[in-house]
Amino acid sequence: MEENKEIIQVQGISKKFGEIQALQEISFSVKEGEIFGFLGPNGAGKTTTIKILSGLVKPASGLAFVNGFNVISDPVRAKESVGVVPESSNLYAELTARENLIYMAQLYGVPKKEWESRSEELLREFNLFDRAHTKFQGFSRGMKRRLTIAAALVHRPRILFLDEPTTGLDVMSARGLRGIVKKLKEKGITIFLTTHLIGEAEELCDRVAIIVKGQIRVIDTPMVLKMKVQDTEVIEIKMQPMPATITKEMEAIPGVEKVTIVEDRLRLYGKTLHESIGSIISHLDQGGRKIFSIQTLTPTLEDAFVKLTGVDAEVMRIDKPVKMGGIN
Ligand SMILES: Nc1ncnc2c1ncn2[C@@H]1O[C@H](COP(=O)(O)OP(=O)(O)O)[C@@H](O)[C@H]1O
Ligand SMILES: [Mg+2]
Repeated sequence: MEENKEIIQVQGISKKFGEIQALQEISFSVKEGEIFGFLGPNGAGKTTTIKILSGLVKPASGLAFVNGFNVISDPVRAKESVGVVPESSNLYAELTARENLIYMAQLYGVPKKEWESRSEELLREFNLFDRAHTKFQGFSRGMKRRLTIAAALVHRPRILFLDEPTTGLDVMSARGLRGIVKKLKEKGITIFLTTHLIGEAEELCDRVAIIVKGQIRVIDTPMVLKMKVQDTEVIEIKMQPMPATITKEMEAIPGVEKVTIVEDRLRLYGKTLHESIGSIISHLDQGGRKIFSIQTLTPTLEDAFVKLTGVDAEVMRIDKPVKMGGIN
């Protein structure tokens, strides 16, 4: 594997749906073998990016190369290099696990003599061999997601696109799935994944692009992103009650640059916050408010996200409503 080879290159891609600017001049590249994450809230343009890179949607302008093939002028060859795992599975409910894999192998042009062996290999790898003859519709959400990933690998692509791979899964299945993603990376597959979960991006990704409203705000390793906000002090105050006006009140205090609320905790951000602690406390210590604890926090990727995008981290926790019938 050539060191640092760029296996995905995107230059100035834009896309509009009617009046909606889904993507605005995005540019980035993904290095061979890395897990590259697109982190952003619902509607940011993550799925549209995957659709463009897998040849399903044509951009209005810009260039994109996948494994060296131009996705706009040579989509057929570009597609051969990628496996795509969409948010909602593309598998057939009525077919068994094995039948789905064989059907996909056929669709991707895998030589017939290999259909059987590849399907078996994948069923074993994804721990579904015992359920080879169960219909897809009979699987749990976690198993459905695993089989959908297996199906995307049937033609042995070098690049795998995973659109919100853990959305809608329970905690244990989500953890198992993140383990699978790490194993695929160890096997040398380049992974492009999207997520609205900051923790997931931090755990899995070698590099993260933060995307908001169709624009990439920043691209870096989770570590560097956290370091970029090191100059910002964060103080967390646990208090009750939490009046709606508190954000405005706090932002009026000199030295407080940004305020967010997470449940019963108030988070203040600023470069010289420690100098303002006196005024913050005396302001809060009125009107029957009760302060339970005050602590300083070292920046997390979440802090970096808030600082770099201005998007409240709460917005990121909103799962998109799962479609009727759940993940299928
Ligand atoms: N086929 C479509 N028709 C109209 N608008 C669309 C279509 N696909 C996506 N959009 C809009 O484009 C924006 C980006 O969508 P999407 O890429 O799905 O975001 P994400 O995957 O980050 O949630 C959203 O405002 C969405 O409503
Ligand atoms: Mg999406």
